[in-house]
Amino acid sequence: MRELQEKIEQYGTVLPGNVLKVDAFLNHQVDPELMLKVGQEFAKLFADEGITKVWTVESSGIAPAVMTGLELKVPVIFARKHKSLTLNQNMYTADVYSYTKKTTNRISISKKYVDANDKILMIDDFLANGQAVEGMLEIADQAGVDVAGAGIVIEKSFQPGAQELKDRGIRVESLARIKSLADGKVTFMED
Ligand code: G4P
Ligand code: NA
Ligand code: NA
Repeated sequence: MRELQEKIEQYGTVLPGNVLKVDAFLNHQVDPELMLKVGQEFAKLFADEGITKVWTVESSGIAPAVMTGLELKVPVIFARKHKSLTLNQNMYTADVYSYTKKTTNRISISKKYVDANDKILMIDDFLANGQAVEGMLEIADQAGVDVAGAGIVIEKSFQPGAQELKDRGIRVESLARIKSLADGKVTFMED
């Protein structure tokens, strides 16, 4: 997506450890017009899938997920993060390990908002190692709902998440695909 790539080029900064900081429009300050375009793009890509709900994980996935739900006219659920201790029988849960932060969070979605006939679209701001999406897939599996795929704002294609999901047959649509962050420079994959 051209506008997104331009925003990354203009405002993105590369931190040590191959981290792309995009606090100017996605992870702290949010650019609503850009997010609306992101949501419109995901809605178009998954238009024929019969999506009934959008799922994401708090907090940075919420902005793009809400715009996608607005376009598809379906509800948006953000899985909540807790310390791994939390147990609750009214919740579907999965443990998500963060390689970046070296912590495990338990994510949960209330059974109250899951319908057995749901077909869900997973949205997230970043796809790196794929742990957040794997957690949502685990919950979808427990709940017995269908999954149309994952819509990702920024894919770090040099990390294993996207390929691992594709190898499992999961449709992954990423609006920006980053080939490298080496030497503090953002290089995009060729389309
Ligand atoms: P993953 O397996 O879910 O793909 O991610 P990973 O453990 O590698 O990263 C953990 C957290 O760091 C995730 O956010 C992920 O979105 C974020 N992240 C990974 N790489 C980058 C990056 O290059 N830039 C930025 N800005 N974020 C990155 P989180 O802690 O789960 O959530 P949130 O509260 O920020 O939504
Ligand atoms: Na995220
Ligand atoms: Na994040």
